[in-house]
Amino acid sequence: MIPFSPPRIDSKIVEEVAAALYSGWITTGPRTKMFEQELEHFTGASKVLCLNSATAGLEVMLRWFGVGKGDEVIVPAYTYAATANVIIHCGAKPVFVDSGDDFNLDVDAVGRAVTSKTKAIITVDIGGLPCDYLKIAELNKSERVKSLFVPATEEQALLGRPLMIADAAHSLGATYAGCPVGHPDLADTTVFSFHAVKNLTTAEGGAVCLNLPKPFDNIELYKYLCVKSLHGQNKDAFQKNQMGNWRYDIIEAGYKFNMTDVQAAMGLVELRRYRSDMLPKRKYIFEKYSEGFKNKKWARLPVTETDIKQTSYHAFMLRINGISEEQRDAIIQDIFLAGVAVNVHFIPLPMMTLYKNMGYQIKDYPKAYKLFASEISLPVYYSLTDEQIQKIIWVVGVAVEENLIK
Ligand SMILES: Cc1ncc(COP(=O)(O)O)c(C=O)c1O
Repeated sequence: MIPFSPPRIDSKIVEEVAAALYSGWITTGPRTKMFEQELEHFTGASKVLCLNSATAGLEVMLRWFGVGKGDEVIVPAYTYAATANVIIHCGAKPVFVDSGDDFNLDVDAVGRAVTSKTKAIITVDIGGLPCDYLKIAELNKSERVKSLFVPATEEQALLGRPLMIADAAHSLGATYAGCPVGHPDLADTTVFSFHAVKNLTTAEGGAVCLNLPKPFDNIELYKYLCVKSLHGQNKDAFQKNQMGNWRYDIIEAGYKFNMTDVQAAMGLVELRRYRSDMLPKRKYIFEKYSEGFKNKKWARLPVTETDIKQTSYHAFMLRINGISEEQRDAIIQDIFLAGVAVNVHFIPLPMMTLYKNMGYQIKDYPKAYKLFASEISLPVYYSLTDEQIQKIIWVVGVAVEENLIK
């Protein structure tokens, strides 16, 4: 079986993880701080906070901004559950918007969804292709949106508009208008995921780029979020461990969201070879697939770049023109039977029991449904060989063509 997305684990990773394990310091400490600094350098972010997941990063930012009961947060219908579940954790209401043709959220639909209850907009770069960052930022800073905004906390009053949170779980290394995703020009805050299937993995993990505009102080915000993401404790374990520094205080009922140095050890190795080695390999696989399917009338290839966007080559989201959801499922079954693991990114959230029970209906998001019903994600990972790529192209072609004539 050709697997879908095994992590890249080699001697460099094992050696650096072993070094962390033998160092005597395995939880949040020097390696996590170094990983944060290197991510700042990589993205140009004002400050980066590493956490145990992207989910934690999304939630901590909503909570910091005081999003709660009675509030609305705009979010794509076409995303993974983490993006919207955190809104429910905070007691607020997810307001789903439909997709554009490239899987990312439709900017006009975002504009229509803004109300006087909107406290944040969470964008997603599906499959690694950046969303329309500047158009959404422009909309979010427009007089109309600002005049609708009703601040309820000090932070909300200071910003004077909804918080723009970029869920960049898929898009580390992607660029928009020449800026790396995570850069201050693109969003107030950007969250990366380092989950096992992501381009850069720390097994589980995430990072938050803090890029709040003035008069916010991103360094102070970082210090506060370190406390908030560790039980509200005013010193982390590493600081407490320094001589004479044992006494600590708990200033609020914070969370347990911190990253460990064992995770950061993996992240450091991966980040240092990400642009020179991981991204080119993923690009190569995308090009091979595109070449393999380019003459197939039924194939719609994923967008990898436009005049302003450049993907991170996370998911190769192939679309099959003119098929039903049932046909797509049958194609996937045949692909599996031929020894290739594929996936679907994603089942739109209004199709999930949780969200259906809350009253959302997929018929209100017709574009998201159409994208979902025709989509198949193919394997993309570092160790994928040329022979495997050719086998996948062949197997997918046979499965599609046999099902199309049925
Ligand atoms: C779009 C999106 N957002 C958020 C997440 C959550 O990431 P994590 O598992 O690091 O919390 C994922 C994970 O798959 C995702 O695909």
